[in-house]
Amino acid sequence: MDKIVVKGGKTLSGEVKICSAKNSVLPIIAASILGNGECIIENAPMLEDVFVISDVLRSISAEVNIDKESNRIAIKSSGISSIEPSCDLVKKLRASFLIMGPMLARFGRVRISLPGGCNIGTRPIDLHLKGFTALGAEIKLGYGYVEARAEKLIGSNIYLDFPSVGATENIIMAATMAEGETIIENAAEEPEIEDLANYLNKMGAKITGAGTGKIKITGVKELNGVTHKPIYDRIEAGTFMVAGAITKSRIKIIGVNEEHLKPVIAKLTEMGVVIEVEKDVLILDGRRELKPVDIKTMPYPGFPTDMQSQMMALLASVNGTSVITETIFENRFMHAPEMKRMGANIKIDGRSAVIEGTDKLTGCQVKATDLRAGAALILCGLAAEGVTEVMEIYHVDRGYVAIEEKLKALGAEIYRV
Ligand code: EPZ
Repeated sequence: MDKIVVKGGKTLSGEVKICSAKNSVLPIIAASILGNGECIIENAPMLEDVFVISDVLRSISAEVNIDKESNRIAIKSSGISSIEPSCDLVKKLRASFLIMGPMLARFGRVRISLPGGCNIGTRPIDLHLKGFTALGAEIKLGYGYVEARAEKLIGSNIYLDFPSVGATENIIMAATMAEGETIIENAAEEPEIEDLANYLNKMGAKITGAGTGKIKITGVKELNGVTHKPIYDRIEAGTFMVAGAITKSRIKIIGVNEEHLKPVIAKLTEMGVVIEVEKDVLILDGRRELKPVDIKTMPYPGFPTDMQSQMMALLASVNGTSVITETIFENRFMHAPEMKRMGANIKIDGRSAVIEGTDKLTGCQVKATDLRAGAALILCGLAAEGVTEVMEIYHVDRGYVAIEEKLKALGAEIYRV
């Protein structure tokens, strides 16, 4: 089991390159099931989650070639022969559930083991299934599996009780080849959904409104192969922005889309961080005294829940009182007890965390509990006095390519054991 060791107190400098977005590439790999020809994804991040979802496609006899040298993934799904992906693989990665919509659209049937919850919440799939039912699918649950069948999918109007990212993506993919028109109301507006829609439209789909709360999909007969370069990873970029702020450094981040980072830029600027963006390059200067702020996570374009733990790390090291409210997941404060072991003063009360920041964080052994919590603990280690060991680092590898190499290149004293 790997761990990452950080010696705190170093100032960072230089520049870091951001990868393509994990949460874009995962649904795009799933959507490749719909294509008749070869689908090529360029500049793909070589992440554990990408390897697992690729294995899920291989388990139903799709052909997936990953070229780690050129960060290129080539997918051919004409050979798909099974409608039941490997149970073990699906259990490893909740995002595997995103193959359900494409499988239903292309083969009219799919049987998949129910996605395990994970430690940030129960992660139900009721909104996904409600969408499939509205399109005419028959859903059967039992023995830890969910099965969906549909002779033919018929376009329909679907209102999402919550703007779920995964449900929006799954329903869009199912509706691409349904008969007639589908409207999704109260859809999630995340940039990764817009990227998925652009990918599907390049394949021949007819989708408008992605990135807004109302998305229209007009069914087509078939979709073709395509080549696509996904958008940058706004959460990886945000994580490195916090690394610059928490070490009171000035760094350059290459590979950002300012629009997608608006909530993160706004909050860091409110704290006193100086941020300039020139095209896809962001310069961050965290050398001034920073002030505490209150944060409430919301669906996009609100503040992203995937940046919540990283901001808690920063606020824990800035003198003053801050309040973080987590409205998206019911159990996404597991990094707080680990930060308290480092001297952070955090009080959890249900969905809120009250943080009394201190510049006296001290290094010790802590445990990553999910991928963003693990990243946040590394950030605490950069600022803490002494040495911090972050255990169970496999969580972090799910969402970050070689995070310790990138931080070392910025001047951090950090290594993997
Ligand atoms: C996506 O997960 C992301 N994962 C998550 O990123 C991200 O935190 C989340 O969106 C919110 O932005 C991928 O894109 C692969 P949701 P997803 O459906 O689709 C409830 C990371 O760190 N809900 O928007 O699973 C659910 O319980 C990961 O990269 C239902 O009630 O998120 C949760 O409270 C972690 N019923 C809320 O919606 C449903 O059918 C948000 O879930 C579906 C969801």
